[in-house]
Amino acid sequence: MKVIVCQDYAEMSVKAARIIAGQIISKPDGILGLATGSTPEGAYKELIRLYENGLIDFSEIKTYNLDEYYPIKPDNDQSYRYFMDQHLFNHVNIKKENVHIPSGEMKNPAVECKEYDEMVEKDGGIDLQLLGIGQNGHIGFNEPGESLYYETHLTDLTENTIQANSRFFASIDEVPKQAITMGLGTIMKAKKILLLASGKNKHEAIAHLLGDRIDPQVPATLLKVHPDVIILCDKAAYEG
Ligand code: GLP
Repeated sequence: MKVIVCQDYAEMSVKAARIIAGQIISKPDGILGLATGSTPEGAYKELIRLYENGLIDFSEIKTYNLDEYYPIKPDNDQSYRYFMDQHLFNHVNIKKENVHIPSGEMKNPAVECKEYDEMVEKDGGIDLQLLGIGQNGHIGFNEPGESLYYETHLTDLTENTIQANSRFFASIDEVPKQAITMGLGTIMKAKKILLLASGKNKHEAIAHLLGDRIDPQVPATLLKVHPDVIILCDKAAYEG
């Protein structure tokens, strides 16, 4: 794992966008795995700026998002579909048919999750997977547990995650209790991984990730065995 520590959120976001832009330039028809949450917002903003300046082109890029609340409607302003449209897709020249986000309205999650993984495979796998990290060390919505899921699946959210994500909802009761998420196997099959972390509240998770144990109670620690991971964090997340 390569660790890059930035002064602050702004520097981290610009560096993240440059890495993603580099991937787009080197493989214009590549597959990006994308993440939501407040952490990647700055990187998406910078990517839009690079696009507006004619430096990157999304016309042949395909994307697969990590996760989505369940159940949730796509036009709910807290859905990850809505987030991605607002923060990236509506502002760049990506083709609608090249965007994939797990549906928060799946009728048969077991079958449709399997289809999601099959689509990723069929497209040739993810070239660069962008990740945030939960305060409890989750990636996507792979929550801490005694064992971890390999494939995309429907999962229950932990109290910690519901609490942490309630800041975006009118009340904690409105936070969905479940989500669809890529599994750890799906994430680990990405050729490259870029994990972003900003702020003191991510320090504990980052400290575990940089420690010497792989612990299913901190799912991100599985990334230690991936051959090509960059951890891009700010000083606050690194030092606490
Ligand atoms: C959510 C998402 C994760 C994200 C995490 C951290 O639970 N499922 O993909 O990494 O929140 O979010 P934030 O960046 O807002 O701290």
